[in-house]
Amino acid sequence: MIVDLRSDTVTKPTPGMLEAMMNAKIGDDVFGEDETVNELEEKSARLFGMEAGIFCPSGTMTNQIAIKCFTQPLDELIADQTAHIYRYEGGGIAFNSGVSTRLLNGERGILTADMIEPEINAENVHYPHTSLVALENTVNKGGGACYTIEQIKPIAALCKNKGLKLHLDGARIFNALVKTGDKAADYGKYFDGVSVCLSKGLGSPVGSVFLADKQTIKYARRVRKVFGGGMRQAGFLAAAGIYALDHHVERLKIDHSHAAILADKLEKCAWITNVLPVDTNIILFDTAEPAAIILDKLAAQGIKALSTDKHRIRFVLHLDVFPEQVEYVVKVLGTL
Ligand SMILES: Cc1ncc(COP(=O)(O)O)c(C=O)c1O
Repeated sequence: MIVDLRSDTVTKPTPGMLEAMMNAKIGDDVFGEDETVNELEEKSARLFGMEAGIFCPSGTMTNQIAIKCFTQPLDELIADQTAHIYRYEGGGIAFNSGVSTRLLNGERGILTADMIEPEINAENVHYPHTSLVALENTVNKGGGACYTIEQIKPIAALCKNKGLKLHLDGARIFNALVKTGDKAADYGKYFDGVSVCLSKGLGSPVGSVFLADKQTIKYARRVRKVFGGGMRQAGFLAAAGIYALDHHVERLKIDHSHAAILADKLEKCAWITNVLPVDTNIILFDTAEPAAIILDKLAAQGIKALSTDKHRIRFVLHLDVFPEQVEYVVKVLGTL
């Protein structure tokens, strides 16, 4: 049996999703003529209480477009030191936007207004101009830790008060929503921009949507073109996204319960030194032996995973991990 726990990006479209893709009404989206892309953008914006949206090939692109829209060169943004926009987007903040990054040490990547406030630069020619705060929900490198909307409110109030924009890297925002019970529409009240990935837990093959006000999205279309992200008959992909929003949100709870089952087993394994708290679909755990050795042992049993540090392994649960596979992993973990 093969069980792929490397990432929730490895999923393949379900038969229902493929059918929706095959039946998509398409057109040239750079001309604004792809009905299905337009529908996805409007549907996502409505869902999150935002005015407009733009469909892009990746979460990296939606984040980088957001940063470009919300900053000027010589500005600085504030993010947690685990942030995907900083660590895993190839230095794009500096390259694409000419912006520096102030990194904070949140609790598993979760920031508070008290942590952010002292890091906002005073108006002084020596300092870069702080113009943006970027949060991530859930926090990938924080092991799927999530913010509630109550935790976000004081950060949004601080940003408003200081004239800063607030962006959300919502690659796994639906995992946070099903976990917390918060409403997607509330995000539009507190964030200037939200990036929503359709190809992580939601199971689409490709695509993310950047949501903001109409004027920002108008500019984002210009930036997307410059970044080479203007797609033509992208409705086939947008149809997968619409299907995912309609069918794959509630089921994220299954991934969370699978993660809890595995975490429970990991807690009992003598060869593991620590299991980080598991809130959603990501598990991080530390091993006594080097992670590479454990990964080899797992791979020999058909279980694929990744290490995030010398002694740390990550498991990610998703749409293509079924209950019998979870049982199999539990059994294998007991034999290592
Ligand atoms: C938190 C987070 N943000 C953004 C991204 C980027 O998404 P993409 O791989 O579509 O560029 C990822 C990818 O895993 C992610 O985990």
